[in-house]
Amino acid sequence: MSLQTLEQSLIDGIQAAADETELESMRVSALGKKGALSERMKTLADMTPDERKVAGAELNALKEKLTQAIAAKKAGLQAKSLEARLATEKVDVTLPARPETQGSIHPVSQVWEEIVQIWGDLGFSVAEGPHIENDFYNFTALNMPAEHPARQEHDTFYFHPKGDGTRMLLRTHTSPVQIRTMLEQKPPIRIIAPGRTFRSDSDQTHTPMFHQIEGLVIDEETHLGHLKWALAEFCKAFFEIDDVKMRFRASHFPFTEPSMEVDINCSWEGGQVKIGQGTSWLEILGSGMVHPNVIKAGGLDPDRYQGFAFGMGLDRIAMLKYGIPDLRAFFEADLRWLRHYGFRALHIPTLAGGLSS
Ligand code: DAH
Repeated sequence: MSLQTLEQSLIDGIQAAADETELESMRVSALGKKGALSERMKTLADMTPDERKVAGAELNALKEKLTQAIAAKKAGLQAKSLEARLATEKVDVTLPARPETQGSIHPVSQVWEEIVQIWGDLGFSVAEGPHIENDFYNFTALNMPAEHPARQEHDTFYFHPKGDGTRMLLRTHTSPVQIRTMLEQKPPIRIIAPGRTFRSDSDQTHTPMFHQIEGLVIDEETHLGHLKWALAEFCKAFFEIDDVKMRFRASHFPFTEPSMEVDINCSWEGGQVKIGQGTSWLEILGSGMVHPNVIKAGGLDPDRYQGFAFGMGLDRIAMLKYGIPDLRAFFEADLRWLRHYGFRALHIPTLAGGLSS
């Protein structure tokens, strides 16, 4: 093959390369150690010095030409692939913004998180207990022995009796978490326990499953004044108001002594409830100083330890804060209701950033 023919075929090959991989294999077959040009170089050895001078110069010139052709082709291919990439990554700035997020946070989840934030800020941690409880934690340890009349008011869901005659039950309140926490932790104890609770009851303000938040403080000197202060701080933060009037009504719970029900002031003007205004009262929780028998059941010495407890209906205060009229709708999973009362997903309530906004 004449040198011209070889040159033409190599240049054609370089031009025909569709991408950088093909170009590289073209380069190897032209200029590589076993490539076409190296083969030609070997023939120089058999030439006379004069022939070699001429042929050698020609081969070097060809090598130079091919090197340049490859470099030029490579630059061309790179520019082309960059263009192709830019075309695929093009952003159409005239497209509408991302579609609105679907789905929202249920008011129960929202209020749950708000309450955890508020008590967390006051130094309380979150404790948990099982939904399926036994008689000891749900009643006996809370100072409600077998024949105690308060047991009847709890409309308890019982499971079938076990072999030994005892029956498990669905916890009727979050108070058993008080006992579990005292048995597990050493004072000082500061916990809240939000969670599901169950009673066989159903009307506009009762559902068989509902939510409560329990609070418990145990140490050596916490007294009723601390309870009042903590609940006032909670109410102001939760209802996002500067001031709220509170009424502590003497009441009775087996697990506290003394016991108090707490009301906050509100107005019903225009058929809408406004917390912290007006002269009407709304009951929002039960509370008191933990009964010595309960402290004992929690494995602690009531002569040394004391503290307060409170319990409130989470769904109920969600209804009050967000003006939701019927409790049953909370658990009907009606999409229209959820769209109306739901909260923006990914908006985490914080005290600094705002609970509900
Ligand atoms: N466990 C009570 C109930 O379900 C609520 C309650 C009242 C809890 C007073 C408490 C408390 O911790 O001190 O009705």
